[in-house]
Amino acid sequence: MAATKTASKTDVLIIGAGPAGLMLALWLARLGVDARIVDKRTDKVYSGQADGFQVRSLEILDSFGIADKIWNESNHMIEVCFWNPDESGCIRRDNRVVNGRAGLSRFHEVVLHQGRAETFFLDAIRDSYGPSVAGGVGATDNKTRALVQERRISVERKVMPTSLTIDEQGAGDTTAYPVTVTLRHLSEAEATPTQMLSNVQDGLFRSNLNPPDDITMPPREAQASDAGPAATAAAAENDEVVQCKYVVGCDGAHSWTRKALGPEFDMVGEMTDYIWGVLDIVPITDFPDIRNRTMIHSASNGSLMVIPRENRLVRLYIQLTEVSVGSGRVDRSQIKPDMIIKAAKKIMSPYNIDYHYCDWWTAYQIGQRVGNHFSKLNRVFLAGDAVHTHSPKAGQGMNVSMQDTYNLGWKLGLVCKNILQPSVLSTYELERKAIAKQLIAFDHRFSRLFSGRPAKDILDETGVSMDEFASAFRQSHMFTTAVGICYQPSVLVAGPTDSDKSEAIGSIDENESVPQEHVPQSQAHSTSALSTACIVGMRFPSHQVLRHADARPWQLHHKMPSDGRFRLVVFGGELSSPSTSSSQLDRVNRLGAWLADTLLPRLPTITLMPGTTNLHGGGRPGYSLATQKPPSIIDVLLVYAGTLQDEEGLATSSFDLLGLHEVYHPFDPKLGHDYDKVFVDRPSHHDGEGKAYENYGIDRTRGALVGVRPDGYVGLVTSLDETGWPEVSKWLKGILEPRANGNE
Ligand SMILES: Cc1cc2nc3c(=O)[nH]c(=O)nc-3n(C[C@H](O)[C@H](O)[C@H](O)COP(=O)(O)OP(=O)(O)OC[C@H]3O[C@@H](n4cnc5c(N)ncnc54)[C@H](O)[C@@H]3O)c2cc1C
Ligand SMILES: *[C@@H]1O[C@H](CO)[C@@H](O)[C@H](O)[C@H]1NC(C)=O
Ligand SMILES: *[C@@H]1O[C@H](CO)[C@@H](O)[C@H](O)[C@H]1NC(C)=O
Ligand SMILES: *[C@@H]1O[C@H](CO)[C@@H](O)[C@H](O)[C@H]1NC(C)=O
Ligand SMILES: *[C@@H]1O[C@H](CO)[C@@H](O)[C@H](O)[C@H]1NC(C)=O
Ligand SMILES: *[C@@H]1O[C@H](CO)[C@@H](O)[C@H](O)[C@H]1NC(C)=O
Ligand SMILES: *[C@@H]1O[C@H](CO)[C@@H](O)[C@H](O)[C@H]1NC(C)=O
Repeated sequence: MAATKTASKTDVLIIGAGPAGLMLALWLARLGVDARIVDKRTDKVYSGQADGFQVRSLEILDSFGIADKIWNESNHMIEVCFWNPDESGCIRRDNRVVNGRAGLSRFHEVVLHQGRAETFFLDAIRDSYGPSVAGGVGATDNKTRALVQERRISVERKVMPTSLTIDEQGAGDTTAYPVTVTLRHLSEAEATPTQMLSNVQDGLFRSNLNPPDDITMPPREAQASDAGPAATAAAAENDEVVQCKYVVGCDGAHSWTRKALGPEFDMVGEMTDYIWGVLDIVPITDFPDIRNRTMIHSASNGSLMVIPRENRLVRLYIQLTEVSVGSGRVDRSQIKPDMIIKAAKKIMSPYNIDYHYCDWWTAYQIGQRVGNHFSKLNRVFLAGDAVHTHSPKAGQGMNVSMQDTYNLGWKLGLVCKNILQPSVLSTYELERKAIAKQLIAFDHRFSRLFSGRPAKDILDETGVSMDEFASAFRQSHMFTTAVGICYQPSVLVAGPTDSDKSEAIGSIDENESVPQEHVPQSQAHSTSALSTACIVGMRFPSHQVLRHADARPWQLHHKMPSDGRFRLVVFGGELSSPSTSSSQLDRVNRLGAWLADTLLPRLPTITLMPGTTNLHGGGRPGYSLATQKPPSIIDVLLVYAGTLQDEEGLATSSFDLLGLHEVYHPFDPKLGHDYDKVFVDRPSHHDGEGKAYENYGIDRTRGALVGVRPDGYVGLVTSLDETGWPEVSKWLKGILEPRANGNE
């Protein structure tokens, strides 16, 4: 008989500490939510695996204050070269183009291995709580201090779940802990994959060519019956029961959590016949483009991709044409680094390639599959590779996985804090499943073009046209950079009225969209014509603006950290122009009074964790001073348009900051006025100009009011005037809980 132990409780249990799990843990740490994250392995990934960061991922990491480290250490991929066979079948450089699209973002694609990325995550989770564990948490108030002590999240390794049950009755009750999970604490040997225990490190140990589970443990039943009651008691000794409000399975492609949810949780799609090898080497070669991102199509020996990496490394993705997939079984014993490099040599011939150092290698078969459900009862969620697998060459694995939990994290966190209505959780599946499907469709097309044999001429129908490949590659940027992603209308994204539909670039294939009746819709409507570049459902773009108080240039994103707050960005128009200023100031101040007197008092406040403030340019994270009162869940930023007079530099603006309504410079009895909320669009003295109004597509006299979600996506675009106010109210009313003592 198993000993029954008293169950502990946690708001959120995260299973798996890969990129998806760590991103989620970081969000929950920044929100000060009570959560645990477990992983069955002894340690993080040290080399190999995923390697790149797309533009949107960098923007997200920057909102947590960790992009500059990655930017600094990584290798930057600025151009791409295409090598194709010429008439004689010999490869030559066909084309060289910019990698990505200039002007989409202030970042471009960079590569750095997954192990470093995981380290930055672990550091950032730790920093969320302030400077150090022992030395207290800086000048924060007692309440935050208590929260920090109690809720510090760190990865618990060598722990894996053995059972999961949901009390379906309790699922509707927000205060309940309806998910019960049994966790087993593993020994060092149990938690180390068998292949790692030998001296020869088998590069296939995390490959999908390997059997699903590389951790070998006798099943519970077998243990019990084989070894009798004593063994059962010993196993139970290492078991722990946890009751959770929410559980998130971030446990990779062979997801235990997905299987535990039952047979109706399935992956839909197929394995392709293509087998690819991956080598991380320091190359010795005469190939001229080895330090550029390069795609090589050989006439008949397969394709290869070159990804230059940090630290003189180069990653090669190599099509293994000689390994047969045949009846679906692959002979894994054939696959070794020397056979992979042999395949590379054939493709790159007449150039030579060899290596002395090999950092990591693996091989995989491309599977393109999407989970049919992303959540059960909005209590257990699946994210990352647990719900979508695809080829890594379109290079989306880590990006998309991280973005899944970036989407989910704030929603779960704010629901746990009683700030967000639980019904908002259903937008996770709506938003991310559509992206996963688009990803697979894209990957399907891209891998066919990449793995196919190049056409000899236009009459060669089974071959792939190299022009088509290059053009697919160019078109893919809006998608692969993830900047083009557009979430569908929902309670979070107030779509435009029918008379005012603007065309969203990333909008979803209608056949893929989730049936509308399951999706709660916002009562508010956007007026998309007011800003041609802030598109509802897409991420709010960043441009340089100057802080009114000190004329220092900032990226507007730097004033929108991932701290769980919604933002209303008030584009107030030309406040300092002598001709229009009084009426324009008046409009902006009337809005301010409505916000301060009517809207904000009805909405919850939020306790900010020490690590969420001062992320950019305001000193080290964690050294912020405590406010007397927690701030509103809504952060109001004002961006006005400068005039010629301002551009001459020294002329005085026609208004002072304190002449604006207080909502634009919130006053705290301990800290005085906040000078960090008002910005102007005009050229800076040292750093050029951001042309923000022009780039946001906002009229300088009319202005606009843009509602931004805590994950940086645009939820509402409306007018500054009285006509826009009800839209703001309706939008937030569908999302947030009313202010009550019970918040947090
Ligand atoms: C061999 C291989 C090569 C790859 N190469 C590339 C590449 O070159 N480029 C690229 O972009 N992407 C690549 N990927 C994909 C990329 O690594 C993934 O897309 C990305 O890591 C997905 O993140 P994730 O957090 O969803 O899952 P994972 O990174 O797989 O993380 C899952 C975590 O959950 C843990 N876990 C699993 N089961 C349990 C359990 N039952 N209990 C507790 N913990 C559990 C695991 O130990 C792991 O730490 C590769 C993947 C593999 C396996
Ligand atoms: C992220 O996306 C970029 C393409 O924008 C890709 O090159 C990179 O490899 C991707 N990274 C991962 C880890 O998937
Ligand atoms: C970037 O790298 C340099 C050394 O290469 C280092 O001195 C600097 O501190 C790094 N900056 C950041 C933000 O990590
Ligand atoms: C905060 O804690 C300190 C010491 O623990 C105590 O002296 C002080 O009264 C507390 N302040 C408040 C506002 O509770
Ligand atoms: C990379 O590309 C540049 C052109 O952008 C070229 O001048 C250079 O020789 C290439 N170098 C290597 C080593 O790939
Ligand atoms: C590539 O394939 C062709 C045709 O199968 C073959 O003749 C040629 O020798 C191969 N090249 C190399 C370097 O093996
Ligand atoms: C959508 O589905 C219809 C009918 O099933 C099909 O004819 C059409 O081509 C599909 N559209 C796209 C873009 O796939």
